[in-house]
Amino acid sequence: MPEHILIAVAWPYANAEIHVGNITGSHLPGDIVARYHRLKGNRVLMVSGSDAHGTPITLRADNEGTTPEAVYKRFHESFLALFQQLGIHYDLFTTTHTANHFKVAQTMFLALKDNGFLFAKKSLQWYSPASGKFLPDRYVEGTCYLCGAEGARSDQCDACGNVLDPEKLLNPRSKIDGSTPELRETEHFYLDLSKLEPQVADFLRTRQEYWRETVIGESLRKIESEGLKPRSITRDLDWGIPVPLEGWQEKRLYVWFEAVIGYLSAAIEWAQLQQQPQAWEDWWTNPEARAFYFIGKDNIFFHTALWPAELMGAGERFMERFAGETKKQLVLPYDVPANQFMNLEKKKISGSRNWAVWGRDFLTRYDPDPLRYYLTINMPETRDSDWSWEEFVQRNNSELVGTWGNLANRVLSFAYKHWQGRVPQPGELRPGDLALLETVRSGFARVGSLIDRVQLRAALQEALRLAAEVNKYLDQTAPWFEVKEDKAQAAKSIYTAMQAINMLKVLFAPFLPFSSQKLHEYLGYETPLFGEPYTETVHDDLGKHTALRLRPQEKTWWAPEELVPGTPFQKPKPLFRKLEPAIAEEERARLGN
Ligand code: MF3
Ligand code: ZN
Repeated sequence: MPEHILIAVAWPYANAEIHVGNITGSHLPGDIVARYHRLKGNRVLMVSGSDAHGTPITLRADNEGTTPEAVYKRFHESFLALFQQLGIHYDLFTTTHTANHFKVAQTMFLALKDNGFLFAKKSLQWYSPASGKFLPDRYVEGTCYLCGAEGARSDQCDACGNVLDPEKLLNPRSKIDGSTPELRETEHFYLDLSKLEPQVADFLRTRQEYWRETVIGESLRKIESEGLKPRSITRDLDWGIPVPLEGWQEKRLYVWFEAVIGYLSAAIEWAQLQQQPQAWEDWWTNPEARAFYFIGKDNIFFHTALWPAELMGAGERFMERFAGETKKQLVLPYDVPANQFMNLEKKKISGSRNWAVWGRDFLTRYDPDPLRYYLTINMPETRDSDWSWEEFVQRNNSELVGTWGNLANRVLSFAYKHWQGRVPQPGELRPGDLALLETVRSGFARVGSLIDRVQLRAALQEALRLAAEVNKYLDQTAPWFEVKEDKAQAAKSIYTAMQAINMLKVLFAPFLPFSSQKLHEYLGYETPLFGEPYTETVHDDLGKHTALRLRPQEKTWWAPEELVPGTPFQKPKPLFRKLEPAIAEEERARLGN
């Protein structure tokens, strides 16, 4: 029975380009796990979208003198181009600014309210008489009341690192026009996380056996020591999703409250686009489905506490309100394999200071698979990692080209030349040949289970180790010499190596889909390994948006398959390029300018 696997990837704020830290943090690991399950024949739904609301977007719009709508649309289009170039295969990459998402998010809010988990409360907030509106935290700057530093944001001081009580900020100024704001009373809704705390903690305890240490530490352990407090889930903003209650329509849902709901609304949108409006329930109301969330460490609270609390708090009420169906619960996260951060040349990545390697810029000079390779082998799974251009070049040349690319290329070229482009007829295989094939075949179980446990560095290392085994085998059998003395023996060695490469192609495919597909074609296959991405314009009550989608693949491949002797194959070309060591210096010179 195929499993249902939801691959949920953090929604990038559509206010900046995507850099290598974002790619290795969430999109790439999500894509690798999704591709693996699709190759295995499981039913995968991989969703995400542009996070279009909140102050990150409005601040950028204010700075540029444009609208939030223009900002999120520009970056959204750029994200779609990047994912297509890099082979990040979303079943649906949409945005939070859709009529469907508004409705799903508002339904979730009302379900939580019905169940008694919301309350309204008055508080004091900064109001700008000059702009005629309340100023969200990031819009007010002043002097820190703790350390005296200038330029503190009303909710946080970068100088002393403390979280601040906004109303205590000294000498407050509006970031819009420098005018002085005043404190005024306003009213907001709060999600009563303290009431939901026992349920959230119990949920996390059912996961602690197999979740990453770092994630349990930041979720269960933290809740056990500090508890959960009510959080405000509405804001005085004019950009975002209106609070769906009489007299509240001027206020908006807090961006984090609604963005996490995107995982659910995107599945619903996907089903509608498939013309199977109920199909999303296979992942969302099916207790057997497994949902994986790919996020960076700064998102852990929102995905391990806030989002499960929303799902449990809404309970059956969500489906009653949304679909008029009773006794249906929404599926809780199965795994949240959050990554740590990737630094760049030993310093924290900073977009605004251009201390970053941008995905699209990278792809104007290099191929996608070397990027995917380096970002996987160096993925910050358990601790922060570091992008070093020198290491990128070195690992590309010694591992990707040296261990894997050259192996495939020299075996296929040799076979093409000496057996006229047909898979050699080996006769009976020798014990050493069978042993090698058995070793490589064992990779399907080993690499597969490592991917399922989201140990992707180890999974890729294992595939690379198997490629190195094939190199050793060839060093021992030396078909390049055998062919001169006894071509029948050489046929056994080359046939064995070709079988091994045909399996390695699949083992590498989740990580290196472009080169695996090329090799697949060289080996004479016509049905592709994966489905094709495409974009589609979707119209709804809010206007239109461009969605990235995926045509399903035609066949499953995660199992050994034999090349039949005599089958024709193509003359191969090198899978990867060797890179000049000098580029490390050139690339470093671009940083920070
Ligand atoms: N936009 C947030 C960020 O870039 C992530 C949102 S994840 C979501 O950090 F689930 F809330 F959408
Ligand atoms: Zn301070």
